[in-house]
Amino acid sequence: MDFMLGHGHEEFDNHELVAFCRDAGTGLSAIIAIHDTSAGPAAGGCRMMRYATFADALTDVLRLSKGMTYKAIMAGMPFGGGKAVILADPRKEKTPELLMAFAERVARLGGTFITGEDVGTTVADIEVMRRVTPHVRGIPANGHGDPSSMTALGVLKGIETAVEHQLRAHDLKGIRVIVQGLGAVGWRLSKLLRNTGAILIASDIDLELMEKARRQLGATIVPPDHSPAAEADVYAPCALGGTLSERTIGDLRVSIVAGAANNQLATAEDGRRLADRGVLYAPDYVINAGGLISGALEGPSFDHAELLERVGQIPKTLRDLFTRAEAEKLPTSIVADLTAQERLAQARAQKQKREGVYHQ
Ligand code: NAI
Repeated sequence: MDFMLGHGHEEFDNHELVAFCRDAGTGLSAIIAIHDTSAGPAAGGCRMMRYATFADALTDVLRLSKGMTYKAIMAGMPFGGGKAVILADPRKEKTPELLMAFAERVARLGGTFITGEDVGTTVADIEVMRRVTPHVRGIPANGHGDPSSMTALGVLKGIETAVEHQLRAHDLKGIRVIVQGLGAVGWRLSKLLRNTGAILIASDIDLELMEKARRQLGATIVPPDHSPAAEADVYAPCALGGTLSERTIGDLRVSIVAGAANNQLATAEDGRRLADRGVLYAPDYVINAGGLISGALEGPSFDHAELLERVGQIPKTLRDLFTRAEAEKLPTSIVADLTAQERLAQARAQKQKREGVYHQ
């Protein structure tokens, strides 16, 4: 495995731990990646999907777990970053036994890794995992429950912030927003957008969902492959990552990208491509932190008002990044990475101090 995890793997970023999980009885094949625990236990959802190759799954989990470290530190939550992927088709291969076998691996990590729902898993699946391990979040009885509504709320506030900064508009009335992906987050976001008076342009690979959006939300429907290239003010990617690439950025006809998907940029260079085209990019791990915040606050002292207040801080974080990007003439993606790395360096120094380890 060295060839995959050493310097040879471009997504390997000195991850603290990468665990490959197998269970012959249930057919479980999963990877858990813990990127960094300097600020606290690694938090990150459990994604279930079929990958073309095992190497693709590894790339995904390494990138996503690093993104979680940056997300938690930018949201000011005392958590590190981790992520899990179960290599299985959620529609055909998901069984309670498979979920529990995975949860047993999470249990073995003793709280170093805390997981929750993600693409391909649901709150009901997390309830099944909870039979085996307490190290899960997103349980309705312990707090807010399904994180998607808080993710959607944070993204809505982020879109408002970006629109104010880029278009000098104080509300979303008449602002055209493309929502790509009408799943747990995208659907909730679409409903919130409709209530603000925004003009909704929606797409999904699920034809029924598109039809529902047209009927119930009055959305204009565009084919999924063409949705990033539709003419609008804002493009909100809410499906899978990597939709902003050398191939797609040239076709964009929006001035803002602000959505929920993790890892929206196919490569780091794509942040610069967006900036060069004059497109304001709201860094994904900043704007989509609502779900993480929701899970982080779960527990006996859960307070809904505190949750709303914390999610309400996403606009300020974004405004600070936009301002710094302009002052330093850098893409917002780079400024977000720099800010996260500065905060992470502080967290690492504090951890070393706590543990009594000093660097020369
Ligand atoms: P989901 O699985 O409920 O929804 C994804 C939707 O995207 C599905 O309806 C699917 O049919 C659609 N889709 C897939 N490929 C598409 C394509 N090429 N074009 C258009 N639609 C397509 O997932 P969920 O929970 O809504 O998450 C969406 C994104 O947001 C993911 O990238 C996830 O990692 C990210 N995210 C989710 C959070 C949450 O609280 N659920 C928190 C932070 C990030």
